[in-house]
Amino acid sequence: MDVQGKVAVVTGAGSGIGFALSKALLAAGAKGVAMADLQAELLQTRAAEIGGLAVPTDVTDEAAIQALVEKAETALGPVDLFISNAGISPKPIRDDNAHWGQQWGVHVMAHLFAARAVAPGMAARGGGKLVNVASAAGILMQMNSAVYTATKHAAVGLAEWLAVEWTPKGVSVSVVCPLRVATSMTEDTPDSASVRDGVLTADEAAATILEGVADDRFMIYTHPTAGGYWAKKAADPERWITAMAGLKQKLNPDNGD
Ligand SMILES: NC(=O)c1ccc[n+]([C@@H]2O[C@H](COP(=O)([O-])OP(=O)(O)OC[C@H]3O[C@@H](n4cnc5c(N)ncnc54)[C@H](O)[C@@H]3O)[C@@H](O)[C@H]2O)c1
Repeated sequence: MDVQGKVAVVTGAGSGIGFALSKALLAAGAKGVAMADLQAELLQTRAAEIGGLAVPTDVTDEAAIQALVEKAETALGPVDLFISNAGISPKPIRDDNAHWGQQWGVHVMAHLFAARAVAPGMAARGGGKLVNVASAAGILMQMNSAVYTATKHAAVGLAEWLAVEWTPKGVSVSVVCPLRVATSMTEDTPDSASVRDGVLTADEAAATILEGVADDRFMIYTHPTAGGYWAKKAADPERWITAMAGLKQKLNPDNGD
């Protein structure tokens, strides 16, 4: 999709990758960006900095996502591009059911709610695009967090399903699988395993993601190594599990993502 002149919604836009994406979209000539985040004050400040439309939103609430789309469309016009980016860190590592429910809500249901809210309208208008930010943990894993691994895998699976469902109707779908990006989510693990593939700034990650959007790629990597690891895993899953188990043993368990 050529984002010039397009109306976009970005969730998790108050910080990190979502803020960088909002800024990059406006710099690339988007007509407007509705920026959604749970952190209302931070969001207002960030949106004012770049001329975005701040819409405080809890993405786990389907009615709130529908209201977000209504506000965006009233202020800016029909939504062409919805980037479902909000996410939560698995840290501190917990395994209680409340944490599973929270991560499932943000990493999976929010993507479904976004698709329900905008895909039918996009198709009726002749096209549009959904971009779901998952993680390399969605094709590989996050060694210390079952919940982050499982919900990001579900996000990738949902994106595949949405792509098969909506592409023939004119709505293209992309899923983003970043490795390490320096944001508030990763600042507490400066020396974890994933830094070995390089740490991007949020602006660098956003630029790479928008290249993938421009090319309408389904799978968008921020780091090309992620695709190579995924291919190796698919080619020999048993060897991959053995290697990952060995790597996890070597690393500090509090720091081994
Ligand atoms: N930073 C990385 O290394 C990395 C790697 C892989 C994937 N990701 C994914 O990228 C996305 C962006 O993460 P980031 O690194 O920019 O983190 P971040 O913490 O800087 O930004 C995430 C934003 O999402 C918002 N958010 C959380 N729950 C929300 C909710 N219920 N409703 C609305 N907003 C909510 C937060 O307030 C925050 O502003 C996430 O989905 C994350 O899982 C990040």
